[in-house]
Amino acid sequence: LFAAVEMAPRDPILGLNEQFNADTNPAKVNLGVGVYYDENGKLPLLRCVAEAEAQMQAAPKARGYLPIDGIAAYDQAVQGLVFGADSAAVREARVATVQALGGTGGLKIGADFLKRLSPDAQVLISDPSWENHRALFTNAGFKVSTYPYYDAEQRGIHVAGMLATLQAAAPGTIVVLHACCHNPTGYDLSAEQWAQVVEVVKARGLVAFLDMAYQGFGEGIAEDGAVVQQFLAAGLDFFVSTSFSKSFSLYGERVGALSVVCVSPEEAKRVLSQLKIVIRTNYSNPPTHGAQVVAMVLSTPALRAMWEEELAGMRLRIREMRQALVAELKAAGVSQDLSFVTRQKGMFSYSGLNAAQMQRLRSEFGIYGVDSGRICVAALNGKNLKAVAAAMAAVIAG
Ligand code: LMR
Repeated sequence: LFAAVEMAPRDPILGLNEQFNADTNPAKVNLGVGVYYDENGKLPLLRCVAEAEAQMQAAPKARGYLPIDGIAAYDQAVQGLVFGADSAAVREARVATVQALGGTGGLKIGADFLKRLSPDAQVLISDPSWENHRALFTNAGFKVSTYPYYDAEQRGIHVAGMLATLQAAAPGTIVVLHACCHNPTGYDLSAEQWAQVVEVVKARGLVAFLDMAYQGFGEGIAEDGAVVQQFLAAGLDFFVSTSFSKSFSLYGERVGALSVVCVSPEEAKRVLSQLKIVIRTNYSNPPTHGAQVVAMVLSTPALRAMWEEELAGMRLRIREMRQALVAELKAAGVSQDLSFVTRQKGMFSYSGLNAAQMQRLRSEFGIYGVDSGRICVAALNGKNLKAVAAAMAAVIAG
């Protein structure tokens, strides 16, 4: 039966973890996957999470099946966070939100639903984008193309190219947009540029699918979610996938969501009924623990304040690491202007290193980043910074 099965390539991001774990180099550093490590190189257990878990443990409960769309209080908390506590769309019950298996799960539920709804639609993702966007939408049955995004010469965004491609897209084209902390480049559109994108999406009748996996890692929770407000204000129907993997350091719990903004409560009900079929036929219903933790933290004022403070701490430490990396690279003899690293937002830096240089970093120095040149700045710390900068300087020198 399996004689003809071909060996698939490793995943470009998670496959690096496998390689990293097998590497015996004691000085190895994992800047591959988008995971935040603290100053001691440890994956943090947030205090707000530990506190919520302690409260849950104090009154342990049996675990029955959750509803197909997840914990109601969780879905409500997601809506408050993504659309704002006083959002008219939420108040009017025009948003269908379902608990999902991480942000990836939210994307997949949305992709499967869209495939049933618009089987011939094309999908546009940014060039470059998170490696899994193309794979996920292709596996859902779509033809996936790109819109220009990264401008290597300007070290920024090719906004004119992006807008021109969206202008030329057929009505109904699904456009995957990074709401904040663009993965992998770290370059985000300004509010004015977003306004232009929203205008084209509306004028051309495109379907916006916002991927918001890093809310709170750029400028702040509300600031990073500002684009959602622009889409709401334009009166559009659109998709938002949410992830709490990074912002709650709950990677392994797979806590995410999909929200679909509709034009009426009646439409939202019909959409929800279809999302539930997608979920039921894939994995039946979601798990309890992570979503319970997130719901409790978001809806308990003291825990919520603690979370916001801890998230701000992660955001600020990443910023410090960006500054420190630029300084260390300079000290290590790199003469070119690398200040762009400090203008990028979120966990990643698109370093400008090519695939051969990234492979050298791995094989000679045990420093793991993605072949695209993406490094996870959130995994740098005072102890590994000098070694990383020295290795980068060595491969830049050639
Ligand atoms: C990443 O881009 O590294 C993260 O989103 C983790 C993943 O699933 O790829």
